[in-house]
Amino acid sequence: MPDISLRSATPADAAGVLDIYRPFVESTSVSFERVVPSDREMAERIAAASEEWAWLVADVDGRIVGYAYAGRHRFREAYRYSVETSVYVAPDLRRSGVARALYTELFERLRSRAYASAYAGITVPNDASVGFHKSFGFEAIGVFPRVGRKFGTWHDVLWMYRPIGQQ
Ligand SMILES: CC(C)(COP(=O)(O)OP(=O)(O)OC[C@H]1O[C@@H](n2cnc3c(N)ncnc32)[C@H](O)[C@@H]1OP(=O)(O)O)[C@@H](O)C(=O)NCCC(=O)NCCS
Repeated sequence: MPDISLRSATPADAAGVLDIYRPFVESTSVSFERVVPSDREMAERIAAASEEWAWLVADVDGRIVGYAYAGRHRFREAYRYSVETSVYVAPDLRRSGVARALYTELFERLRSRAYASAYAGITVPNDASVGFHKSFGFEAIGVFPRVGRKFGTWHDVLWMYRPIGQQ
């Protein structure tokens, strides 16, 4: 396993995060965005998520090799203890435990901020993400059929759930 260090992301990490995220916007339906966010937009997302939830990066020798973050599930007051989580790892470092390390720390931070329930929405098929989330204790709770349309195709999103208060 490479020497991975985890730290809170800062807005200055926007370009490194985008290096990983860009291909998923440009050529997959893993992300439902159509336009790659600018460095500035990504910096604002990092700042906003860090303030209320958490955004972490994994760093190997000064290069960002993965990131994970949590954000709002829904706006209404009763949803305030629930979050949505997501994680991306650079292709050359997959299956090295990077996502596991990121989520372990992310969940620790969320627990310390009293969040209770985590949900991940995964455009399916995505064996790696479903396999990873299962391995981290998420269970599948349902599918939103044909909820997204990208590149002229309808996509289903599988939702997975894990309580935050257990490791
Ligand atoms: C999903 C993803 C984040 C997993 O990251 P990773 O760093 O490779 O995962 P880890 O090495 O921490 O794997 C931990 C466990 O998850 C499971 N897992 C990881 N990749 C898997 C795969 N391709 N197939 C099945 N299970 C997998 C395994 O149980 C693994 O443990 P093991 O390697 O000891 O068998 C990575 O594949 C990725 O970035 N995919 C593209 C982006 C994406 O789809 N993100 C999720 C958006 S919802």
